[in-house]
Amino acid sequence: MPSSRSARRSSRGSETPTGARRTVTSRPRNQDVRVRPARRADVPALLDLWAKLLAFHRDIGETDMRLGPVVIADGREFFDEHIGRRNRLCLVAEESGTLIGFLVGTLRQRSPAFGGWRYGHVYDLYVQDPSRGRGAGAALVLEAFRWFRKHRVRRVQLQVRARNTLGIDFWKRLGFSTLALTMERSI
Ligand SMILES: CC(C)(COP(=O)(O)OP(=O)(O)OC[C@H]1O[C@@H](n2cnc3c(N)ncnc32)[C@H](O)[C@@H]1OP(=O)(O)O)[C@@H](O)C(=O)NCCC(=O)NCCS
Repeated sequence: MPSSRSARRSSRGSETPTGARRTVTSRPRNQDVRVRPARRADVPALLDLWAKLLAFHRDIGETDMRLGPVVIADGREFFDEHIGRRNRLCLVAEESGTLIGFLVGTLRQRSPAFGGWRYGHVYDLYVQDPSRGRGAGAALVLEAFRWFRKHRVRRVQLQVRARNTLGIDFWKRLGFSTLALTMERSI
């Protein structure tokens, strides 16, 4: 799910799925797909993908996803904060030299009342439409798992919109299950 500024800062109470029950071992089926850490020079292409991620959510009926200069500036800051940082992760997937997807994540720690363990959090995952279904999404997630394990993290969490059946099916396929539900109403 595209991470709003407030979503990025909150770490408890609204966490959603986790609990990898099966080890995902699939490799990219398209041998042209390559996953690597993002570089600063990737930011313009990442912002294009970020805009597509927001558009994807608007298309499935998420009316709070907006696009515009402020959002793009926020996205730029978000990517800047996650590229080349020790405790943060920004990966890109390339196909024949073109960026087709990305994953952004970080390390978090639960409060002692909730176990106190460190866990990995995935903010965003996106693969653009023509390149889907060929293993790029799974390759990004597997690389993130490697990075999390390297940081001695054994659990991974993320939020996904309830309407996003494409995303939910994908995460379930990769072994995630629902941990909590975020509820909302207008008042
Ligand atoms: C979710 C998304 C990243 C998946 O990317 P992708 O490159 O198409 O995924 P992959 O090709 O790696 O698929 C990985 C596995 O999930 C399966 N899968 C993918 N989408 C699926 C779906 N809708 N239902 C069931 N399984 C699915 C694939 O079959 C594959 O399993 P396999 O290796 O056992 O065959 C991509 O569809 C996307 O960007 N969606 C829009 C944004 C989004 O939903 N992001 C995630 C939620 S925040």
